[in-house]
Amino acid sequence: MIIAIDGPAGSGKTTVAKLLSKRLNISYLDTGATYRVLTLAALENNLNLKDEGALEDLAKKLDLKIEDEKVYLNSTDVSSKIRAPLIDKNISVVVSHERVRVQMVGLQRRIAQGSDFVVEGRDITTVVFPNAQKKFYLDAAFPIRVKRRFRELKERGLAVNFDELKEDLKRRDDADKNREVGPLRISKDAIYIDTTALTLEGVIEAILRHIKK
Ligand code: DC
Repeated sequence: MIIAIDGPAGSGKTTVAKLLSKRLNISYLDTGATYRVLTLAALENNLNLKDEGALEDLAKKLDLKIEDEKVYLNSTDVSSKIRAPLIDKNISVVVSHERVRVQMVGLQRRIAQGSDFVVEGRDITTVVFPNAQKKFYLDAAFPIRVKRRFRELKERGLAVNFDELKEDLKRRDDADKNREVGPLRISKDAIYIDTTALTLEGVIEAILRHIKK
């Protein structure tokens, strides 16, 4: 069974998807992490991020592994590195290339297809697994999403400027919604959950209620 979750940055979907997968005792795939690894690899290789062909080639041979919530690039644990503001700043252009997305969607399908998975991202309910058995769209008011992301980065010990982060989130929201390929959309058959006033446990309960239906 595939449980697909989409939503904007800071909607809480990563935390929710992780916990949900634990409760259901099934695997979890954060597709944002796969794009983050690609962005990190591109920066480390000094690639021009606008060069679609170069990024497509990089995506084809990307040595990415996800194990026990840790993310590896060329066997090195990059779990912290991929959450740094530098990646947030550069990722929108990387994920906008159609041929790059084709490669990454293929990779994501290969990881999750045929097993029980909670998969989260921006285009999971619409492009990656449009036939998922259960589909959810998590949302929250913009100021709340900024606060959540700020707290998350601070807890990781990263130095963050609140106003810069706010600007960056807004820019990523616009890019996510307006890109031509794989934009963030609310799938018609997805269950919409506004998490603004909900606790983490409240969101999990709401999702579990729908799954059991
Ligand atoms: O969920 P996140 O913040 O880790 O995602 C990082 C970026 O990757 C975000 O700007 C949107 C993009 N993304 C995407 O385009 N498609 C996905 N399935 C997941 C993430």
